[in-house]
Amino acid sequence: MKIAHFGVEEWLNTWEKKATYDISQSSVEALTLEELVGLDGTTVKDFFGGLSQKPLDYGWIEGSDSFKELVSSLYKQVEPENILQTNGATGANLLALYALIEPGDHVVSMLPTYQQLYDIPRSLGAHVEFVELKEEEQWQLDLNELKSKLKPETKVICLNSANNPTGTLLDTPTLKAIVDMAREVDAYILIDEVYSPLTHEGDFTSIADLYEKGISTNSLSKTYSVPGLRIGWTASSKELADIFRKYRDYTMICGGVLSDELAVHALKNKDKILERNRKIVKENLEILNQWVEKEPRVSLVSPYYVSTSFIKLDIPQDDQSFCIDLLEETGVLLVPGSSFDYPGHARLGYCCKKETLIKGLELLSLYLKKFD
Ligand SMILES: Cc1ncc(COP(=O)(O)O)c(C=O)c1O
Repeated sequence: MKIAHFGVEEWLNTWEKKATYDISQSSVEALTLEELVGLDGTTVKDFFGGLSQKPLDYGWIEGSDSFKELVSSLYKQVEPENILQTNGATGANLLALYALIEPGDHVVSMLPTYQQLYDIPRSLGAHVEFVELKEEEQWQLDLNELKSKLKPETKVICLNSANNPTGTLLDTPTLKAIVDMAREVDAYILIDEVYSPLTHEGDFTSIADLYEKGISTNSLSKTYSVPGLRIGWTASSKELADIFRKYRDYTMICGGVLSDELAVHALKNKDKILERNRKIVKENLEILNQWVEKEPRVSLVSPYYVSTSFIKLDIPQDDQSFCIDLLEETGVLLVPGSSFDYPGHARLGYCCKKETLIKGLELLSLYLKKFD
């Protein structure tokens, strides 16, 4: 089976350990084990002491009952039995796409977005068409263009909201319009929802709550700041969950006893994590927006309170060699837009430590002066 190189992952694998000021990542700064366990005052010693007699067997295959209940409570319409634990959101996307796509299927996705969402379907033999997001349209999905791309044989509409790298959101009226279009051609809608806006509750609608053929994929990696647990999930109707179960048995057994325990702990204390992360996003976004205002070679459609942003670079150099030179000369890491098949831009992950963001932006500005 042929598959394209995964641009953003390959870039990070090559360069991230060489960075001094890493402003490229898309998660809200990760919690330490001590911070995670301590959210409700528990010590690491007590937490793991309580688990010391737990057999390290396969544990719960689809995720523990507590995990499924806690995840189900994030949705209005998804029952616990229709939540399937996966290896991160990458595992959730892979599972859903592997289960649904057949050679010759037609798939519509968006560009730029997370590459899995179009290159896994292509690798499975689907023909993928794109709706290109445009900066001058605030990176919003053009619904007329989407409609024009749908056909009776369209199997899945694969989207990402909020979007990596642009940080922009599909709002509820837009989602409802997409559902109406999907119904006309009887297509599934898969939305990777790992970036939920860190604004206030009720600001985000999941596709699994809106559409019986909707699949929400998600994880604890971005908004919840614990990517190292590698815990994600699919949320869907029972009919879809039953299809996924069959394929899941071939691709993973379980998420692991310890990761499940820690995931349950994170979900039980999610309000505290979200409160911490709302503060980080708000304060760091202010720093980023103020910097952009003063930086003549950069423009930005401000992200919707999610931890990724996509700056436009007004420079006489291609984005990839610029990002390599920048890293080598200053230690500042960005992800070039070409890694998202969208040159001329760069992903700037601003939800790192504040000192790293401030110093990284300062060095980036100094470096950009060489083009004056
Ligand atoms: C849209 C999107 N989905 C999934 C992932 C990976 O998530 P996970 O760490 O849960 O596998 C990323 C990571 O960058 C992402 O941007």
